[in-house]
Amino acid sequence: MSQLITAVDVIRAKRDGQPLSKEQIEWIIDAYTQGEVGDEQFAALNMAIFLNGMDRREIVDWTKAMIASGITMDFSGLSKVTTDKHSTGGVGDKISLPLGPLVASFGVAVPMLSGRGLGHTGGTLDKLEAIKGFNVDVSDKKMLEILEGPGVIIAAAGGELAPADKKIYALRDITATVDCVPLIASSIMSKKIAAGASSLVLDVKVGSGAFMKDLAAARELVGTMVDLGNDAGVTTRALITDMNTPLGLKIGNALEIEETLEILAGGGPRDVVELTCAFAREMLEMSGIPDADVERALADGRAMDRWRDMVRAQGGDPDAPLHKAPHTQDVTADRDGYVAQLDALALGVGSWRLGAGRARKEDPVQATAGITIHAPLGAQVKKGQKILTMHTETPERFSSALESILPGITISAEKPAERTLIHDRIA
Ligand code: URA
Repeated sequence: MSQLITAVDVIRAKRDGQPLSKEQIEWIIDAYTQGEVGDEQFAALNMAIFLNGMDRREIVDWTKAMIASGITMDFSGLSKVTTDKHSTGGVGDKISLPLGPLVASFGVAVPMLSGRGLGHTGGTLDKLEAIKGFNVDVSDKKMLEILEGPGVIIAAAGGELAPADKKIYALRDITATVDCVPLIASSIMSKKIAAGASSLVLDVKVGSGAFMKDLAAARELVGTMVDLGNDAGVTTRALITDMNTPLGLKIGNALEIEETLEILAGGGPRDVVELTCAFAREMLEMSGIPDADVERALADGRAMDRWRDMVRAQGGDPDAPLHKAPHTQDVTADRDGYVAQLDALALGVGSWRLGAGRARKEDPVQATAGITIHAPLGAQVKKGQKILTMHTETPERFSSALESILPGITISAEKPAERTLIHDRIA
């Protein structure tokens, strides 16, 4: 009897540590989305959830109510099976870019609806827009055409998918209620379930440059998200991966496209190749293709062909040269030794300050800004040798970028331990 529910009763119940009923959850999410419950009341509810949590049943009901606030994509008319991937975001994390075409080269459709970067982690759409002509706004009809053809699309998620989450997330962002497992899990999974793929692999990053700073918190988040996906009929798996140091050797929009092309040409840094192949195997296995030789599809150009098809289908020119930043400045080693720390957060903030990222949603980004790494974690260096190069269109940014980057570099006499790239797999 929804007319008897009031926002104050719902807030009080959660404040006092009681579970919310399905009816209360459905009512308040709908009322907030429609503007009938105000920001101040929903902010109080978010904080009560942050402090007192939600049980498994409440999280499921919360996620379903957010999905019901908008449309759900339907790919059942496609002749191909669909699969998707989501990353919680990291520094130099361009995995989706080679991954989508690689998986599509095996005849599986990959509809990736993505977002823009905010803060120190880059956004997939910002990276793709460094390609001349590339259009991330694609109609549903065109999306189906592309999926039936090249088989991979990376586009902006429309406002119709889980609009409740959009409003709730914006409020969480300004009320210190983002880092809360039930709210993160339901936020991500409502969008991904509404996005309509048959299966989903999650890349949950852990470390200094990630949302989740420790493995125990990441495990809790992953368990909740995998259960939510599987319960909703989306076969869901996850890898927990390291984000203490950046992925690959290039950070920034055009620079990460450059590195993507290296991977698709059969080369590129080992960590990016390893993760791309690991995620591709998971997606292909869930799509009924076990034992796919994904390394070969990178080496023999099949994945590159799909990339070029995707870029063309989305209005881009795969042969247009990528722009380069007009200003660069090197950072060199101040002693002999091994690179023992190259901190992801320090370099992510540095790249952002150089112009690669944005502080507010409406800010522009520089396509060419970012960092190239010459001496990655574990490399042996001599005093004066280049560790990295900063790139920007606005050289007055170098000094504030350096303030972030320099404390994130440690050179020591001892060679550091090998990085563990994949901490865990949850299937
Ligand atoms: N990304 C999301 O989409 N939602 C969250 O709550 C956190 C990260």
